[in-house]
Amino acid sequence: MEREMILILDFGGQYKQLIARRVRECRVYCEIHPYTTALDQIREMRPKGIILTGGPNSVYDPESPSCSPDLFDLGIPVLGICYGSQLMAERLGGRVETAPVSEYGKTMVTIDRKDSALFCGVSEQTQTWMSHTDYIAKVPEGFVITAHTPVCPAAAMEDAGRRLYATQFHPEVTHSLEGTAMLRHFIMDICGCRGDWEMESFAQETIRALREKIGDDHVILGLSGGVDSSVAAALLSRAIGDHLHCVFVDHGLMRKNEGDEVEAIFGPGGNFDLDFTRVNAQDRFFIQLMGESDPEGKRSVIGAVFPQVFGDEARKFKGKVRYIAQGTIYPDVVESGDGGKGDVIKSHHNVGGLPIDLVRSLGFDETPIEPLRMLFKDEVRAVGLQLGIPRELVYRQPFPGPGLGVRIVGEITPMKVKIVQEADAIFREELAKAGVDTDLGQYFAALSNMRSVGVQGDHRTYGLAVILRAVLTSDFMTAEAAELPWPVLQTCMTRIINEVPGVNRVLYDITSKPPGTIELE
Ligand code: XMP
Repeated sequence: MEREMILILDFGGQYKQLIARRVRECRVYCEIHPYTTALDQIREMRPKGIILTGGPNSVYDPESPSCSPDLFDLGIPVLGICYGSQLMAERLGGRVETAPVSEYGKTMVTIDRKDSALFCGVSEQTQTWMSHTDYIAKVPEGFVITAHTPVCPAAAMEDAGRRLYATQFHPEVTHSLEGTAMLRHFIMDICGCRGDWEMESFAQETIRALREKIGDDHVILGLSGGVDSSVAAALLSRAIGDHLHCVFVDHGLMRKNEGDEVEAIFGPGGNFDLDFTRVNAQDRFFIQLMGESDPEGKRSVIGAVFPQVFGDEARKFKGKVRYIAQGTIYPDVVESGDGGKGDVIKSHHNVGGLPIDLVRSLGFDETPIEPLRMLFKDEVRAVGLQLGIPRELVYRQPFPGPGLGVRIVGEITPMKVKIVQEADAIFREELAKAGVDTDLGQYFAALSNMRSVGVQGDHRTYGLAVILRAVLTSDFMTAEAAELPWPVLQTCMTRIINEVPGVNRVLYDITSKPPGTIELE
């Protein structure tokens, strides 16, 4: 049976990933494609429905992203959201105007047509999330207004006969309290999806497809011990067994005992039947990092040394290996499509992405194998559990590619790494003991470059300050510091100062993001 799919056409909206998440929550597969996707291509994809995202532009600006009016004649249901709704109105002969005031934030909407398939069971007054200045002043012929607000005459409109629907508000945002129900109505009732997207069949299908593609060839994978590369390794291992060669570069910037844990799971005698090599490259990284104290400088050293080390190992497989595999996941794909907009806050390095020149010189196929390319993080986790990866690894909090390198302010030395590892292990242990770890988005110890005076056992000390950080976040784009119980923080302080030599002060970071970032560097 053909897999049902919802196509999300991206007009530059900031919530496109959220829309995709909501669709997947209905167990329906979806893909985000740029608004420039040709109609023929769309026909070939055979989507069950199309969702037009929001976007920052005005539809009457000739430079703004647009679509052919024929998109609405494909016989496929369309839901336009925010900019997408205005585009639908404008393209089909309605009128969009600029309001004197913007409508922004939580907004009560009155549902005028309770019989609308989109609003079935939705309260007459429902809280939504708005973010617009332009509005639909006149709906196209054949459409009826199905909802309004005091300042927005057409908060929703539809031509049910043609299965065209539009909302000025954002149903995908959690502040739209009944938004998920509306999206579900669109996907299940209007588009007629059954909801057949599940991780068990994804895993089985992917394993079969990988076997078919790879045949008798060999594959190399950079394994970092993070969730994504671990799940990619598990899938490939099930598909091709010992034709998978995993290279784990231990850069010495892992958490306490982490290198050994990765080896225990993927190495000989572990949970998988694959060829595993651990490269202990700590010295190479430390030597190159010596004297470097600038955050971007450190990131670029780590980002440069990694492919050298990996490349040296991979060279041993030259002539044998055909493909390189990576644990790229869907948010990486979507984010990299955004290229070039906005300031670079931090240059992210994800283990696995190798420079193309290196890939060519190794004689590997230029297109990497990325079995998780279309999955969100929680879907990757579900696949991981299916494949027998231990729960602790699958639900591990995110760990940055440059590791503790971005948790040590200033120059990195082996001694400082040891301090952070020990302090972090204590912090994690105490949070788990207190049962508060599961509510947190991310939590860790970091090391400041501050030295201060203290007194321990009647002796003056001049030690380093450890920074504890615990944040609440759902998307890692914004975060707030968690209000950890004071006794837990006190226990951590006492243990860290008593047990970790060189530390005489413990600070708790209460900065939210923005203005801070989650990692310190
Ligand atoms: P920031 O510090 O930018 O972090 O607020 C947001 C999330 O990204 C993680 N992070 C990274 N992940 N490579 C990664 O794979 C990196 O270079 C990197 N830097 C930050 C961070 O742990 C948090 O989850």
